[in-house]
Amino acid sequence: MCGIVGYVGSRSALDLLVPGLERLEYRGYDSAGVALAEPEGIRIVRKAGRIADLERVLQGEPMPAATVGMGHTRWATHGAPTTSNAHPHRDCTGRVAVVHNGIIENWAELKAELVGNGHVFASDTDTEVVAHLVEELADLPLEEAVRQVMRRAEGALALVVIRADEPDVVVGARRGSPLVVGLGEGENFLASDIPAFLAYTRRMAVLEDDRVVRLDADTATITDLDGNPVAVQERHVEWDLEAAEKGGYPTFMLKEIYEQPQAIADTLRGRFDQAGRVRLRELELSDDVLRAVDKVFVVACGTSYHAAMMAKYAIERWTRLPTEIDIASEFRYRDPVLDDRTLVIGISQSGETADTLAAIRYAKAQGSVVVGVSNVVDSSLAREADAVLYTRAGPEIGVAATKTFTTQLVALQLFGLHLARARGSLDDGAIELLTSGIRALPDQVRRVLELDGEIAEMASRWAGTRDFFFLGRSGDFPVAMEGALKLKEIAYVRAEGYPAGEMKHGPIALIEPGVVVVGVATDSHVRQKTFANMEEMRARGGEIFMVVEEGDEAARKVADHAIAVPAAPDLVCTVTAVVPLQLLAYHIATERGFDVDKPRNLAKTVTVE
Ligand code: G6P
Repeated sequence: MCGIVGYVGSRSALDLLVPGLERLEYRGYDSAGVALAEPEGIRIVRKAGRIADLERVLQGEPMPAATVGMGHTRWATHGAPTTSNAHPHRDCTGRVAVVHNGIIENWAELKAELVGNGHVFASDTDTEVVAHLVEELADLPLEEAVRQVMRRAEGALALVVIRADEPDVVVGARRGSPLVVGLGEGENFLASDIPAFLAYTRRMAVLEDDRVVRLDADTATITDLDGNPVAVQERHVEWDLEAAEKGGYPTFMLKEIYEQPQAIADTLRGRFDQAGRVRLRELELSDDVLRAVDKVFVVACGTSYHAAMMAKYAIERWTRLPTEIDIASEFRYRDPVLDDRTLVIGISQSGETADTLAAIRYAKAQGSVVVGVSNVVDSSLAREADAVLYTRAGPEIGVAATKTFTTQLVALQLFGLHLARARGSLDDGAIELLTSGIRALPDQVRRVLELDGEIAEMASRWAGTRDFFFLGRSGDFPVAMEGALKLKEIAYVRAEGYPAGEMKHGPIALIEPGVVVVGVATDSHVRQKTFANMEEMRARGGEIFMVVEEGDEAARKVADHAIAVPAAPDLVCTVTAVVPLQLLAYHIATERGFDVDKPRNLAKTVTVE
């Protein structure tokens, strides 16, 4: 996720671009930059860090009074968050500039071809290929050049491109990543999101996938990739600025829950080969290294620890490697037995959690192979690990982790399959089944979100309930743990996550009328056993709510209430199963009147012990 903005009109572009970027900073804040078009050439200023850092640089520079330009605020997905990787990127001549939000899956092939043609690259980004491709098409109108680039580039692209030869024009294009057109009087805008131009116009049009838009000060023309005109569907924005920043959602947390289909699609992007097999090229760990491993440890804190729990089941089932998990603050002081044949996976969305960093440092000191799973490119975890897998969820502003959790689950499932392939531990049929299950997740999560109304009704029923248990077995256990944690964090309700089969050894004494017991039963290995455990809870007066798979009629018999998520292979289903529990916690918290984005006593990232 990044924020992009473009302007063409009669005012000073810079004066509009910088405030526009500030409104998009929620989309990323690793670096920022602007480009201004003039017939003599394009002026670019970029800076690693937040937009305020860019502004400091701009204050010290004489800038042209251009009326056409564009800007970018970056959430790195490809290449470290340095100034040289900051957008806008330019071609060899300096007459073309590009900003991009998304991931170009075939960038390596395109870059190799361009380098072969003599182009010189100045960054590690996938985006830069677009500038050089446009440079190659210098004879064509910019709009047509961008159409051709869109036909060649695979993956997700929201682009804004300017060229010194057409200094009164801005061209945008979109596939997969958002791009909206702001329609002003004698001026027009392009942006990843409405807040960037809402102060100047309320007239806008959403650019659909595989459309190219050409803006000058007075007109906005949209075409498909063959150049056929497409009607501009104008809309009027009713939201105020604050609502617009949250995409019309009342809170960032709800917005982030709803972003999950897109976030998961981004996590999957470019991580399969032509034949559809998982290929994590960015890992830079040879198959020989992966084959030499004889034991795995997974360490993390908080929600990331629940992703670690799922990873244990996945790695053990799919690779047969003994896998231990630990909470990082425990791991670092318990003297775990590690050596150079141990693979240690550290999971941290921020990549800065002190305990997790200490744990992986300890592992490195023992000579273990360390893989980091992080949402933040170039975080401390990413830098210190031997290899890193990014979750690509975009910035998460709500303190309670949602989209960063589901994308961790997906990234770890991809890693599990990568390891299984390298070690030859799963047959092709099993790999294919799991892979197609994982690839179906964005659509499946979209379908689960349609159940929000039903879940909100249950939440209002339980807004005053003080005691919850969340139970599951096997892969459903981490989901139950995460459901309980969400409720504790944002609704301040006592909620215990427990292995369903262990309840009989003590906690069942707490079950009585008035206690709500949430059961998760999607893992086919143990589903029937979980049902039996839930019967035991019901017999003691607990009110039973179950998360099950569609078509599972048996569940309805034990449950007072049930939510059915689309069927998926075991463990893959954790991703869909947790979404109703995120929504349940969310609605209970808002019914109780709490600020879910900033729960009391919590910090998004804990950098102290
Ligand atoms: C804090 C946050 C949690 C998060 C945990 C680990 O406690 O409030 O939501 O799960 O840190 O964070 P990390 O960035 O390491 O995943």
